[in-house]
Amino acid sequence: MEKEIMNDVKKYQKLEKLKKWRDEIEPIPWYFDGLENLCDRIHPEKQILQVTDIKQLSNDTKLFRFISAKPNKPLAPFRAGQYIGITVEINGVRTSRPFSLVSSPNQLAYYELGVKRKEGGFVSIYLLDKLKVGDILEATEPLGELYYNRIFHGKDLVFIAGGSGITPFISILRDITERNLKLNVRLFFGCLNEEDILFRDELENIQTRRPNIKIHYILSEPKPSWNGACGFITKDKILDEIKSIENKFFYIVGNRAMYTFIKEQMKELGVPRHRVSYESYGVPDDVTGIVGWPKEITASNSIKITIDFIHQGKKIREIIEALSVEPILNSLEREKDLGITINNGCRSGACALCRTKLVSGKIFMLPNVTIREIDQVYGYIHPCVSYPLTDIHIDLTQI
Ligand SMILES: Cc1cc2nc3c(=O)[nH]c(=O)nc-3n(C[C@H](O)[C@H](O)[C@H](O)COP(=O)(O)OP(=O)(O)OC[C@H]3O[C@@H](n4cnc5c(N)ncnc54)[C@H](O)[C@@H]3O)c2cc1C
Ligand code: FES
Repeated sequence: MEKEIMNDVKKYQKLEKLKKWRDEIEPIPWYFDGLENLCDRIHPEKQILQVTDIKQLSNDTKLFRFISAKPNKPLAPFRAGQYIGITVEINGVRTSRPFSLVSSPNQLAYYELGVKRKEGGFVSIYLLDKLKVGDILEATEPLGELYYNRIFHGKDLVFIAGGSGITPFISILRDITERNLKLNVRLFFGCLNEEDILFRDELENIQTRRPNIKIHYILSEPKPSWNGACGFITKDKILDEIKSIENKFFYIVGNRAMYTFIKEQMKELGVPRHRVSYESYGVPDDVTGIVGWPKEITASNSIKITIDFIHQGKKIREIIEALSVEPILNSLEREKDLGITINNGCRSGACALCRTKLVSGKIFMLPNVTIREIDQVYGYIHPCVSYPLTDIHIDLTQI
């Protein structure tokens, strides 16, 4: 074993020498700065945004428009359907939440986000009640895998949106109409009632101008005056309109409850998993109701989290109290005095940005979250969707 390690070290030293020699004789190519700039433009570590407009979209949803707060740093380009993570500081707690970009990817003068109030929520309520024109916020670069891929997705697309899950589809539809893409789209939009149908005027307008785009509203709690489809978005309602699943690609966006429901419908329709792209909004409101949650652990169950982290260059160990029913990431953010930051993007188990080493203890991870095999072997978890069932120990010094 020792011999193998020594061999590796020797190989490494040889390669280092070769690299140094090459750096000396080969000048840095002329395009290097351009590439660096391009890379930074597409993947800025963070973006600083300024609110320029706020518009009420419905009684519980607002549209926010942001420009880059740094004149020499234009907004990063994105693919229609992607999201950005918005970071806020609320009573000293620094946290963030992902929001899909609503605006068209064909212009980067501004980004737009549609934020819906979540009852009992933390960030959505803050954004809706406190954010004002002129405020400055930090955001991530555009992230996410929900976008049209012309090689794999084909030309017949089925969009299924629940409530504020319409936001990425608005951006995609804007892109399709602006570039006049020859794609056939069926959008199924599930809402509570007519007042809840966000961007209705724009959707109607798109549908009128583009015969290749058809929109079906399905209301679960309509007023008696509504004479459209009622109830949930079921497999029968979908099949009635699309006739066959053949060659169709499905995109599904909504909260976790809708995600669980539609996933079943997709299975019953016989849609293969690789023909569906899902995006579900955050963690469930009550994790104790999720399949697999241990019944003996209740909402009042409190545990201890031991955290190793680096503070001012030194490795520190702290122990905090946390609730089993709160994601580990949220519990850490609550401890504002520790000043711990864990990188994060989707906060729903998809992007792996929050990857953290679990040294010991038992956790519950939300079903349908995939963790890379190698991370499972070495004990890495996604704290945004992991709940501590026993006292746990995490090490933030090992990324
Ligand atoms: C990819 C993606 C795109 C999305 N796009 C949109 C969109 O376009 N529009 C939209 O409206 N939503 C969108 N969402 C949902 C959005 O990110 C949020 O989940 C939603 O706004 C609810 O956030 P919230 O903070 O209000 O609620 P929650 O996240 O449920 O906040 C409550 C939680 O915050 C924590 N908390 C509460 N108080 C404190 C405290 N004092 N200190 C620390 N933590 C505390 C607790 O853990 C509590 O359970 C998207 C989600 C994803 C994953
Ligand atoms: S923040 Fe994306 S997986 Fe945790």
